[in-house]
Amino acid sequence: MDRIRIRGGRALSGTIPISGAKNAALPLMATALLTDGPLTLTNAPDLADVTTMSGLLAQHGLEVTRDKVARTITMSGGATNLEAPYDLVRKMRASVLVLGPLVARFGQARVSLPGGCAIGTRPVDLHLKALEQMGAQIEITSGYIEAKAPGGLKGARIIFPQVSVGATENILMAATLAQGTSEIVNAAREPEITDLAACLMRMGARIEGLGTDRLVVEGVPALGAAVHPIIPDRIEAGTFACAAAITGGQVLLGGARLDHLGAVVRILRDAGVDVAEVDGGLKVSRLNGLRGTDVVTEPFPGFATDMQAQFMALMCVAEGAAMITETIFENRFMHVPELARMGARINFHGASAIVRGVPKLAGAPVMATDLRASVSLVLAGLAAEGETIVNRVYHLDRGYEHVEAKLAAVGADIERLPG
Ligand code: UD1
Repeated sequence: MDRIRIRGGRALSGTIPISGAKNAALPLMATALLTDGPLTLTNAPDLADVTTMSGLLAQHGLEVTRDKVARTITMSGGATNLEAPYDLVRKMRASVLVLGPLVARFGQARVSLPGGCAIGTRPVDLHLKALEQMGAQIEITSGYIEAKAPGGLKGARIIFPQVSVGATENILMAATLAQGTSEIVNAAREPEITDLAACLMRMGARIEGLGTDRLVVEGVPALGAAVHPIIPDRIEAGTFACAAAITGGQVLLGGARLDHLGAVVRILRDAGVDVAEVDGGLKVSRLNGLRGTDVVTEPFPGFATDMQAQFMALMCVAEGAAMITETIFENRFMHVPELARMGARINFHGASAIVRGVPKLAGAPVMATDLRASVSLVLAGLAAEGETIVNRVYHLDRGYEHVEAKLAAVGADIERLPG
C-alpha cells in the first residue's frame, strides 16, 4: 500500500489548481441513469470515487467514456441492470444515489444497503421514507433495498425532518421524472445540490428554488442530453487554504469560489488567515500567528463537517485554545489520537474537542480511517518538525487529486512511497 512521506517546515508558495468537486461529480454521474443521454461532464476530477461510480454505472449497462486528459466523462444508453451490488456500494456510500434515478425511470431498483462507515452509522431512512411518500413500495431483504413503483413515482410534498445532502439529491433526481409537482422542504443547500439542479435543468428538468431550502420540481416525461461543467471542489480549496495557513505560506487557489466556502472563510479569517478574492481564484496567506478559534459544524452555509479535521490540524499550532464541535456525524474525531501522536494537545468529550495550541508538532508515522482525517495528518506533517509518514493513502486518493504533486509544486517536501 502506498504511503506519503513529508518533511515539514516549508512555507508553501505558488498556485494550486482546484479540481472539480468530488461531491458534485458523484450525484451528477448518477443523473445519467435518468436519460439515454449522452450526458457529458467536464472538469471531472481524477479520483478513485469517480472510478468507482463509473464502474457502478457501467455494470448498470451504461456506456461510460472517460478522458482523463480532457477531464471529461460521457455516459449514455439506458440501464439494463437495475441492481447495485454490495461489492460496489460498500466501497462508496454515494452509490445509494442510483436509487432515486432508477426507480423514477424504470419503476424498480435493487440497491445494497450501504451499512455503517468509519464516521458513524449514516442511515438512509430519509431517502427511503421520501421515496415511499412518492408512491414507491420499499422492502429490505437480505441487505438490499428493493424498491418498486410500477406506475411510476408521483409528485409529493417531502418535509425532511433533518438536513441531508444525499437524501435531497436522491429525491431531487427522482422528482424530475415523477408525475406532477414535488416540493422538497428543509432541503440541503450545499453548492453541490445547486450544481446538480443546474445540470438536471440543462437535461430538461423543471426546478425552482435553487440555492434555497425549498425546491419545487415539476415532473417531465423524459430528460435529454446535456453537457455540464462540474463546480470546483470547495473542500479541496478549504484544505489547501489550511495548508497555506499552517505553513505560514501564501498560495493562490486557482478557480476556487468564495461564495462556495460559506462559513469556512469567516472562521479562517477569525483565526488570523488572510483570504482574498482575486482574479482567477482565492489568495490565502498567513503572515502573523494563528489564534485559537471555536467552530461548530453545520449544514451549508455553516462550517462544513468535511473541513473539521483540517481545521483541527490548524488549531493544533494556534495560540490559545479552540473548541471544535461536530454536530453532523458522531464518531468523527478519529484524527485526534493520531494528531496527539504528533504532539498535539487535544481532549474530547462527546461531540466537542478542546485543542490547546502547541508551538510545534513533531513528525511521526500516522494513519487514519477516513478521507478528511487522512488529509488533516498531511497538513500536520507539513507544519511538523522532522518526518511524517502517512499510511493508508488510498483514503486520500478517494477524494484528493494527486495531493502530493499539488503540494510539491508549491514547495512542500512531500513524496509518495509506492508500497
Ligand atoms: C454528504 C457528503 C459528505 C458530507 C456530508 C455532510 C457526498 C458524496 N458526501 O454525505 O462528504 O460529509 O454530506 O455534509 O456528497 N442521515 C440520516 N438518515 C438519512 C440520511 C442522513 O439520519 O437517511 C444523517 C446522517 O447520518 C448524518 C446527517 O444526516 O448524521 C447528514 O448526512 P448527509 O447530509 O445525508 O450526508 P451524506 O449525503 O451521506
